[in-house]
Amino acid sequence: PEAITVQELANRMAARGGEVVKALFRMGVMATLTQTIDADTAELVVNEFGHRVRRVSEADVEQGLEGVVDTDEELLPRPPVVTIMGHVDHGKTSLLDALRKTDVAGREAGGITQHIGAYQVTVEGGQKVTFIDTPGHAAFTAMRARGASVTDMVVLVVAADDGVMPQTIEAIHHAKAANVPLIVAVNKIDKEGVNLDRVRNELLQHEIVVESLGGDTMEIPVSATKAMNLDKLLEGILLQAEVLDLKANPMRAAEGTVIESKLDKGRGPVATVLVQRGTLRQGDLVVAGAEWGRVRAMLDDKGRQLKEADPSLPVEILGLSGVPSAGETFVAVENESRAREISEFRQRKLRDKQAAAAGAARGTLADMMA
Ligand code: GTP
Ligand code: MG
Repeated sequence: PEAITVQELANRMAARGGEVVKALFRMGVMATLTQTIDADTAELVVNEFGHRVRRVSEADVEQGLEGVVDTDEELLPRPPVVTIMGHVDHGKTSLLDALRKTDVAGREAGGITQHIGAYQVTVEGGQKVTFIDTPGHAAFTAMRARGASVTDMVVLVVAADDGVMPQTIEAIHHAKAANVPLIVAVNKIDKEGVNLDRVRNELLQHEIVVESLGGDTMEIPVSATKAMNLDKLLEGILLQAEVLDLKANPMRAAEGTVIESKLDKGRGPVATVLVQRGTLRQGDLVVAGAEWGRVRAMLDDKGRQLKEADPSLPVEILGLSGVPSAGETFVAVENESRAREISEFRQRKLRDKQAAAAGAARGTLADMMA
């Protein structure tokens, strides 16, 4: 059953808490501000105050967020979002670092690079590519489990001297399940005696047919540490992006996904979010997962303060009420009551889920004792 605290009910009606307590008292209900009352009682109070009740359903809350359909004219090209995956020690981090050094915008800024889980590089010629650094596949799985689709393609890093390994296969499955194209970056080609054909054949066994074997999977031999062929890899990514024809409408309220988050001692809750539609602005009211707040500050991966973030840009935002989980969606909303409405709805859903899970756990325990 739906329930609401007296305080929240007062907030929603823009009434004083004390007035609501009094109204309840007149109806024979003794409740303090922090106590919850059921939906029927709440409705009586609302009527008493001369308002009409609109009970919020899941559809009201969640569909409102994606309801507006963009027209073709509104859709503009956006940078691709690329996730780098691969087996342990095959050179994912080295490759990300190397690619980051190719960033022409970063070189100009000369700022201190922060470690955030996502960053954007500007390629020679002005095109942009966003990279997501999923720490292990767990984060990627968690995001997918939450239904978040953040990546447009996967770059699969395979060390030429080691070949296809268990996590390589896992990454192939992830890319297939997410239904996104995969580009193979065969890494460590600077090493003595590496055999690219061996890697190609191993990939073939997992139904990844690279171009040199007549398939359509792009394969780019690289060396992260020697910075070999990084331009070719970027070219390949941009080519793939062109085929995908990636677009988003920047002229609407921002929406996207939480990539990672933490509680920072000095700054409070910090979330790295990927803007996927619309433009996020400093000062915007956002709901992220069940948390909400006004974006007090917004920083890019180079630690620069931003006023605006457009589609495909990952940014760190400060100002949320708490720490949302990776994979949860965020959305900019028009006012505080809407922010509260969505946040509370999601909190309630979370509590219901936890209660159900706890109930199930109790059930199992009871079964065990029987
Ligand atoms: P995990 O995060 O532990 O899964 O590893 P990773 O995939 O991020 O690999 P990382 O970038 O940490 O590289 C692992 C080792 O391989 C390091 O010692 C790197 O210096 C080395 N390495 C990475 N790329 C290359 C390369 O292109 N050539 C050579 N020779 N060594 C490389
Ligand atoms: Mg690493």
